[in-house]
Amino acid sequence: MRILGINCMNHDAAMAVVEIIHGVGKVLWAAHAERYSKVKNDHYLNWGIVNEAMTFGPFDKVVYYEKPWLKKTRQIYATQYSEAFSYTELPQWHLDHFNIKIDEYVKHHDSHAAAGYYTSPFREATILTVDAIGEWDTVSISTADKIWIERKETIRYPHSIGMLYSAFTHRCGLKPAEEEYILMGMSAYGEPKYKDDIYNDFVEQSPFKLKQNLHRGIGHWHPEADVMDIAASIQVVTEELLAGLWHKASKYGSRNLVYAGGVALNCAANRVLANLGLFDNIWIIPNPGDAGSSLGCIAASEKQFIQWEHPFLGHNIEGEYPVDALMKELKENKMVGVANGRAEFGPRALGNRSLLADPRGEDIKDLVNLIKKRQKFRPFAPAILEEDVNDYFDLPTGVKNTPYMQYTAACTHGKDFPAIIHHDHTSRVQTVRKTDNPGFHSLLTEWKKQTGCPILLNTSLNIKGQPIVNNREDGKAFTKKYGVQVLG
Ligand SMILES: [Fe+2]
Repeated sequence: MRILGINCMNHDAAMAVVEIIHGVGKVLWAAHAERYSKVKNDHYLNWGIVNEAMTFGPFDKVVYYEKPWLKKTRQIYATQYSEAFSYTELPQWHLDHFNIKIDEYVKHHDSHAAAGYYTSPFREATILTVDAIGEWDTVSISTADKIWIERKETIRYPHSIGMLYSAFTHRCGLKPAEEEYILMGMSAYGEPKYKDDIYNDFVEQSPFKLKQNLHRGIGHWHPEADVMDIAASIQVVTEELLAGLWHKASKYGSRNLVYAGGVALNCAANRVLANLGLFDNIWIIPNPGDAGSSLGCIAASEKQFIQWEHPFLGHNIEGEYPVDALMKELKENKMVGVANGRAEFGPRALGNRSLLADPRGEDIKDLVNLIKKRQKFRPFAPAILEEDVNDYFDLPTGVKNTPYMQYTAACTHGKDFPAIIHHDHTSRVQTVRKTDNPGFHSLLTEWKKQTGCPILLNTSLNIKGQPIVNNREDGKAFTKKYGVQVLG
């Protein structure tokens, strides 16, 4: 049984293919539309990604990640009439262009929950999903046992923690539903001076409710304020609201938490979650947002576990991981790009589509920023061999590794590595193990052997304003534009 899962017409269209043999699913391929169209956060599919998906066909079934007619009822309620009454806003209309017929539609939060649970190592768990909005649901708590998921609690539109955070993303001059990670980074630079004002103006805490519908943002709320202070304030409020949900989820008795939805990408909040110690084990799929639901809708439809091995599921650039050539460039030029093997399914480059650099010294951050041209306050992420992580970072309570950059951790050697340390002395650390990515693991091992340093700076390999590189040609374009070698 071979199934195609699709998510599109939101902020990160994606496709996934799963094969189910004897009751166990295997992901054959999963990818983001933006990597093929070169349109960042592309809402729509394109022939590039569709043609690649079809090489894994034919398919016994095509599943879509949400229920479009149910979504329209919410859009009518929200007076979004142009979207609600437009037939071009229906996914089947879009997919007709590619001769793809949808066989089944799965509810938005069921896709999120299934993406998390059925890829997790748990057979019983509590599932918490938190996002901005799908059809109506914004928060859901379910319990899961064997193959069954049972919804226990739901919070519905317009009461949405994700939408609250997105409204503040917009207030701080960033793109909502895309640049929440930048707002999270800004929060370390401010003081939460407006925390009480946020509660007074927008939020009732228990039970959680928004005092007004924030779908259209909060305008120029507190125009006099420093945006860093606003960022710090909304981050603290969000962590407090989430803590209420984490406690609630823990009341269902399981020591295993599956945490899903776009809000689970907030790695600073995830650190708070882990440190609360409410659960022994936490599983967050590396792609917990809507793109990951292209995989989740398949799992929800089939109610089958999917063997999770690693997130390298996208376009393949064939060849050996070029360890020796990468080492040479790193030692001579301090920086090198790598585009090798299958692309990461998820927002983070984890070693197969990465710009890597020597993290030591004062000047490397500016050197990499010459290329990335991003806000100077944003640090880069460290990749470190899993066996060395405790010598350099204090991981949150109970977290033994963080292979998908899902938690921030305090760095105990900050002075040696200023490029990978945030203002609050934390790093969004990636622990690397051989089973996830043997090539990148070999490179880090060799790097440590030759330099004594177990860390590499790891940031996504992309031309400014474009998505992460996908194929060999994109790598060549990067070299042509920036003069930095891309090997693979
Ligand atoms: Fe979602």
